[in-house]
Amino acid sequence: MKKLTESVSFEVNGEIGIITVNNPPVNALSSHVRQGLFQGIKEGDANSEIKALVLHCEGRTFIAGADITEFGKAPAQGIPRLLEVIDAMENCSKPIVAAIHGTALGGGLETAMGCHYRISNSKAKMGQPEVHLGLIPGAGGTVRLPRIMGVEKALDMNISGNPIDANDALAHGLVDEIVEGDMKEQALVFARKIVAEARPLLRVRDRSEKLAEAKDNPELFNNIRKSIARKSRGFKAPEAIIQAVEGAVNLSFDDAMKNEGRLFKEVHDSPESAAQRYFFFIERVANKIPDVPKDTPTRNIEKIGILGAGTMGGGIAMNFLNAGIPVKIVEVQKEALDRGVGIIRKNYENTARKGRLTEADVKARMSILEGSLDMNAFAEVDMVIEAVYEDMDLKKSVFKQLDKICKSGAILASNTSYLDINEIASVTARPQDVIGTHFFSPANVMKLLEIVRGDRSSKDIIATVMALARKIGKVAVLVGVCDGFVGNRMLAARSVESGSLLLRNALPQEIDKVIFDFGFPMGPFAMSDLAGLDIGWRGDQTPDKETNIRHQLCVRNRRGQKTGAGFYDYSEGSRTPIPNDEVEAIIKKVSEASQITRIPISEEDMLKRMIYAMINEAAKILEEGIALRPSDIDVVWVYGYGWPVYRGGPTYFADQIGLKSIVADLERYAKEYGEHLTPSPLLKRLAQEGKGFKDL
Ligand code: 3HC
Ligand code: NAI
Repeated sequence: MKKLTESVSFEVNGEIGIITVNNPPVNALSSHVRQGLFQGIKEGDANSEIKALVLHCEGRTFIAGADITEFGKAPAQGIPRLLEVIDAMENCSKPIVAAIHGTALGGGLETAMGCHYRISNSKAKMGQPEVHLGLIPGAGGTVRLPRIMGVEKALDMNISGNPIDANDALAHGLVDEIVEGDMKEQALVFARKIVAEARPLLRVRDRSEKLAEAKDNPELFNNIRKSIARKSRGFKAPEAIIQAVEGAVNLSFDDAMKNEGRLFKEVHDSPESAAQRYFFFIERVANKIPDVPKDTPTRNIEKIGILGAGTMGGGIAMNFLNAGIPVKIVEVQKEALDRGVGIIRKNYENTARKGRLTEADVKARMSILEGSLDMNAFAEVDMVIEAVYEDMDLKKSVFKQLDKICKSGAILASNTSYLDINEIASVTARPQDVIGTHFFSPANVMKLLEIVRGDRSSKDIIATVMALARKIGKVAVLVGVCDGFVGNRMLAARSVESGSLLLRNALPQEIDKVIFDFGFPMGPFAMSDLAGLDIGWRGDQTPDKETNIRHQLCVRNRRGQKTGAGFYDYSEGSRTPIPNDEVEAIIKKVSEASQITRIPISEEDMLKRMIYAMINEAAKILEEGIALRPSDIDVVWVYGYGWPVYRGGPTYFADQIGLKSIVADLERYAKEYGEHLTPSPLLKRLAQEGKGFKDL
């Protein structure tokens, strides 16, 4: 075996030349990989003994894409670009077989499509996930994929970024054969077969039969535009993908490639893509806990107990059932238990009706769920997650019981949104086994899990819960104890400002518009209507009845979507908020009762007040060591609250604006609206030093 570069080697086996890539961890297309591939193809092409070539990868995966760490850097001198490598492959005079295992993603799939044949094992996944990085495929993914799979399928793969499995790939002609066993061996067998059968050199660029359906059919593209409009709001890449695929259909292959290249450059240079690429890496950084190294021992979690089958308990249970982990769920009352289990079943049945689960899947999940009214059912579980009402006395009382019932070594977790984990842990004889697992609602959907580290939480339970989070498909962020942890604490800071804007300046629809236009799925008042205005409302005991907008709405039975009215009206069966004159009158009356003269405010100032208050809170959170690093805060906000990922997250956004100007605005707001908006010492220091959160 001859080493061509540090990551690519070449060998000859009879009539077959084998190019092997070994660039851990995911065989990304770093410069030395591209150079090695290019050289390997040239060698194979020049060697008259060789009749076919095999491209195969060592390690856990085929090429998983371009090397994202190289984006934004000057291209290495003298190293072929990926486009040139793929061109060399496609134009090679001998057939090349790509042997795919693990994942062929992005530039990896584009490389495979430059080959003349593709085989994979049955577990392989293939996709064009560039869209998740704010990009479009830049090496033929929008031009070759529709030629192989048809326009609609290619659009779907490119726009969703979701990979397909080997069977789907086989059905749509993306792979020619599914094989099992050693991929190198299998690729050799396949290559010998095509040589023996003298199969033709199949160049994807020469194929156009699958483009016909979309030719002179602008409706096809416009319908796709309409269908993705809501989800892709604010993102640049989806529209660029559509234009690139339109180019593939309507232009010659070479012009379509040029068109793709132009669009790729446009999105690559956009701030949206820079933010999304930043996010790709910080999501992975969140997993790394400095004092809990990778080799920290973990506990075995095979059975889960959940206390409380309400909104959260049920959703949390589904995560484990989906991952095949048996769950025991305990309630105080039979009706609550039946209702909770019934909702889980209904959720699964609805998913099955949409074709996303089979009846057998539903059965399998429900068969590992066991309901009980007796906490002793937890005697054998490895971890209990408590999701009873948000009440410290209640939490303490159930933790005392759990401490007695659960076996030694079992982890006791609380789903509390705000309460002090240390205080909860203090009633047990095992504070080292107590931790917070703060899921977000709906818990079976939202990807974020804040893991709350108590003063005494042991390292091995932190490592265990972090690993468990990954197993159930969550993105975990480790946070410290404070009121509301990272996410809800910053949300509270924003709520203070949206409430103050409501009282002094603007109407719900005006404030919500600003947050919606920024890129959030909804504004604070639409969100309150969704959650219910009466959460935590103390009815007649409310002390400030005349000056409390929420009270005034709740007593008129405007309690949110569930009563068909809240800050907005809702027509039957619709979730679309409709502004209401009575609400406007109520708000104005409350302002008057509070002796506040309402003054108009610009959209820019509205946005800044809400977002900068959050950024200021983020700085305090970092000062107090509640979050490990600024980027963790960004992960919390993107995955927990729908902060638009194309704006990176609150601390990334703050750095783009510049902390100096944020501090100046906060100082102005502090004078006008209250000292709580005074910039934190950390924010001030960073601004004075000309630094950003990224420098921490
Ligand atoms: N470039 C550079 N580093 C990469 C990378 C890439 N394309 N993909 C993954 N990595 C790194 C990760 O940052 C991580 O590093 P760390 O260990 O230092 O944190 C390490 O590889 C392992 O990654 P994961 O933790 O994500 O490993 P998993 O096994 O969970 O997942 C994967 C593997 C499915 C391949 C996943 O890493 C992934 O989805 N990678 C990104 C794939 C992608 O987006 N490809 C397209 C790139 S853009 C492109 O190709 C443009 C082209 O069209 C020109
Ligand atoms: P919920 O009111 O929907 O459910 C609580 C359930 O606990 C009820 O079914 C109740 O019967 C049961 N329960 C009460 N005492 C019990 C006991 N001693 N033993 C067993 N069951 C008991 O409440 P929800 O919304 O599910 O909240 C639960 C916890 O999750 C709270 O701490 C809350 O702060 C937190 N949380 C809530 C979120 C939300 O959006 N609803 C989001 C994140 C966290």
